[in-house]
Amino acid sequence: MALPPLRLGVNVDHIATLRNARAGRNPDPVRAALVAIEAGADGITAHLREDRRHIRDEDMARLKAEISKPLNFEMAATPDMLRISLATKPHAVCLVPERREELTTEGGLDVVGLHNALAPFIARLNDAGIRVSLFIAADPAQIEMAARLRAPVIEIHTGAWCDAVVDGHTKKADSEWQRIVAGAALARSAGLEVHAGHGLDYATAEKIASLPEIMELNIGYYMMGEALFVGLGETVRTMRAAMDRGRQKLASAT
Ligand code: PXP
Repeated sequence: MALPPLRLGVNVDHIATLRNARAGRNPDPVRAALVAIEAGADGITAHLREDRRHIRDEDMARLKAEISKPLNFEMAATPDMLRISLATKPHAVCLVPERREELTTEGGLDVVGLHNALAPFIARLNDAGIRVSLFIAADPAQIEMAARLRAPVIEIHTGAWCDAVVDGHTKKADSEWQRIVAGAALARSAGLEVHAGHGLDYATAEKIASLPEIMELNIGYYMMGEALFVGLGETVRTMRAAMDRGRQKLASAT
């Protein structure tokens, strides 16, 4: 059986975090993106946060100009970000919630509560030919609203599941996993393309690769940590192999 493709988007935000710690030019997130692509990444993801704590405007512009694979621009749904994304013209925009005080994107976007504000935003991006993805929890109401909003893609927030796995909270991990399985199936049946990301490591990426609905994983923090020890190219190849093993389990299960 032909396996559904599973793309790996490598998030380079934390190369910029390290660079910004000394306010200089190195390490360069664009160089990291080029190394990741050379090693097999299918795309590059970067989050331009309102406070510019890692990726900056010029990084986004350079990524768009210098990489040969699709650029996935993560951003909050603000007028300023809409302007920058329309000027940058990335392949994709992933709309995420953002709070200044958070360490990372802690939850999914509340597309149910924000649907009035999001509808024209998504329409502008759709009209510009930019593939819109909504970063949401695997919650049926959020998924159904994403489909009604005509976003072609959702990205399921895997953070709660990954945290529970890493912390050894088996019951919570099982219930979060069941939520992801059901959410991915519901989203697919609603005509959405399904991506996933946040907190993934080799083991959780391998496991989620066994879900046939998932078409793309976006992974950053864990990979950048691994890269310190074994290099970024090796990390990308190891992640790719883990995802391929997960996909193979799908083949042998059918
Ligand atoms: N996907 C989205 C929408 C995100 O906001 C992030 C974090 O920036 C990721 C994926 C990657 O998460 P992590 O860095 O934990 O792998």
